[in-house]
Amino acid sequence: MTQKFDFADALDLSEDTALSWRSLGELAAGYIEVQNTYRAAIREINTKLEILDDEFRMRHQRNPIHYMQSRLKTPRSIMEKLRRKGLPFTPESVRENLTDVAGIRVICHYIDDIYMVAKLLTAQDDITLVRETDYIKNPKPNGYRSLHLVVQVPVFFAERTERVPVEIQIRTVAMDFWASLEHELRYKAAEDVPDYLVKELTECAEIINRTDMKMQWIYKALGEIKDVGKK
Ligand code: GTP
Ligand code: MG
Repeated sequence: MTQKFDFADALDLSEDTALSWRSLGELAAGYIEVQNTYRAAIREINTKLEILDDEFRMRHQRNPIHYMQSRLKTPRSIMEKLRRKGLPFTPESVRENLTDVAGIRVICHYIDDIYMVAKLLTAQDDITLVRETDYIKNPKPNGYRSLHLVVQVPVFFAERTERVPVEIQIRTVAMDFWASLEHELRYKAAEDVPDYLVKELTECAEIINRTDMKMQWIYKALGEIKDVGKK
């Protein structure tokens, strides 16, 4: 109790600000502790995906994965999410309540590649599928499309094994193009994007989706032409 007020006095902060500063400090210390674990989990999943991608290339002379990105949630963004959900600011709370501290985005060439990658990854013995949200079959009202998975992967340390959640977003190049620009526009707008522009953006998502489906159709049609040529 006294310590709380000393802290505020020393830095000349209001009680509320002092509390959130101390929480941030505690969370940052805890975060450094768990950071390695989440980073290791990302490495595990990245390796698994690279192996699948290489194997597919060997068999079919093309890569299903265009590229991958990964990120660790920043302490600030972890704290904002905990606050938003009214959860305690402790490393245990992060571990129990947040499944998106470790995030991987997998950008595929074709829609079918997305489902193939998801199926091959989740079929692996050491992977547990915790949640799957298919925003491709059920796009968000704004047109957002992507397959979201939360999986748990074991990370082996000297004296313990931890099952660590990783959020994986799998989408095509085209879906990624839309999501990146939509995110940027929303961010730039500062306030809510006006309805008529949201409608325009949703229309863009539909157009992009039609193109995605057509590209896949062309890819398959070309494959069939090649197969016929071989006979
Ligand atoms: P969060 O609390 O944000 O994690 O929401 P949630 O747990 O309901 O997850 P959801 O699947 O809705 O979104 C998780 C992530 O998907 C976001 O952090 C974004 O990266 C991405 N995402 C979801 N919806 C949209 C969208 O409408 N536009 C864009 N650009 N990205 C989105
Ligand atoms: Mg989420």
